[in-house]
Amino acid sequence: MSKRIDVKNLNVYYGEFLAVEDVTMTIEPRSVTALIGPSGCGKSTFLRTLNRMHEVIPGAYVTGEALMDGQNLYGRGVDPVQVRRQVGMVFQRPNPFPTMSIADNVLAGVRLNNRRMSRSDADELVESSLRGANLWEEVKDRLDRPGSSLSGGQQQRLCIARAIAVKPEVVLMDEPCSALDPISTLAIEDLIAELKTEYTIVIVTHNMQQAARVSDKTGFFNIAGTGKPGHLIEYDETEKMFSTPSVKDTEDYISGRFG
Ligand SMILES: Nc1ncnc2c1ncn2[C@@H]1O[C@H](COP(=O)(O)OP(=O)(O)OP(=O)(O)O)[C@@H](O)[C@H]1O
Ligand SMILES: [Mg+2]
Repeated sequence: MSKRIDVKNLNVYYGEFLAVEDVTMTIEPRSVTALIGPSGCGKSTFLRTLNRMHEVIPGAYVTGEALMDGQNLYGRGVDPVQVRRQVGMVFQRPNPFPTMSIADNVLAGVRLNNRRMSRSDADELVESSLRGANLWEEVKDRLDRPGSSLSGGQQQRLCIARAIAVKPEVVLMDEPCSALDPISTLAIEDLIAELKTEYTIVIVTHNMQQAARVSDKTGFFNIAGTGKPGHLIEYDETEKMFSTPSVKDTEDYISGRFG
């Protein structure tokens, strides 16, 4: 598991509107890549193109390439459903199925993929996914309770368990901690650090400390003004981005002078 993504000259459109222009970047396997930048610069838009999730928005399309281990995600005959199985996603607000049990939430993605499983295989997958999401000890005695019975931080870890249960290669996270308290945030950050030993992780965050803490590489996106496309301004080792960035706009953004 864990794959490398090469994005080449990627443009993302919503109908006529060019939202993100000409992104070229390599996302390394078994690493955490953070995407930062002011609101509206296209971080979520770009992230969604990595699993073709933007295609559910009418009129949205891309030009350019996104290769996963050399295979174009947008190649002819590539099934977007298959892409989404390989590239999982965790959203800003924890979104477990509220009335479904904790165990069934973990299995929801797997069942969508029509995988038939014996009861014991299902139990094992529930346990390993919840362990992988650092949630097992907290819920093992109440797996049949509804997903909505968990705290916000637990629900987000449940969503991560659901994402990893399908055994993806890449996990995308769009501001996964923005609805969480500081303790739950640290739990998710610890989890991200563990997950990167197996997965390629791309995370969007508005929290500079979080980007600095969890990521290996950081990409800074910016826009020149409303209605203009977002650009990847600078992309480098996180340590370098947060100490000696090459572009003045990066430094200004990171030090809180705008955004
Ligand atoms: N479904 C959509 N249809 C049309 N335009 C969209 C859609 N989603 C986003 N946009 C536009 O694309 C641009 C980039 O938005 P996006 O949500 O990617 O920004 P972002 O960097 O994730 O911002 P934030 O930090 O606020 O989440 C914005 O101009 C936004 O209005
Ligand atoms: Mg966003």
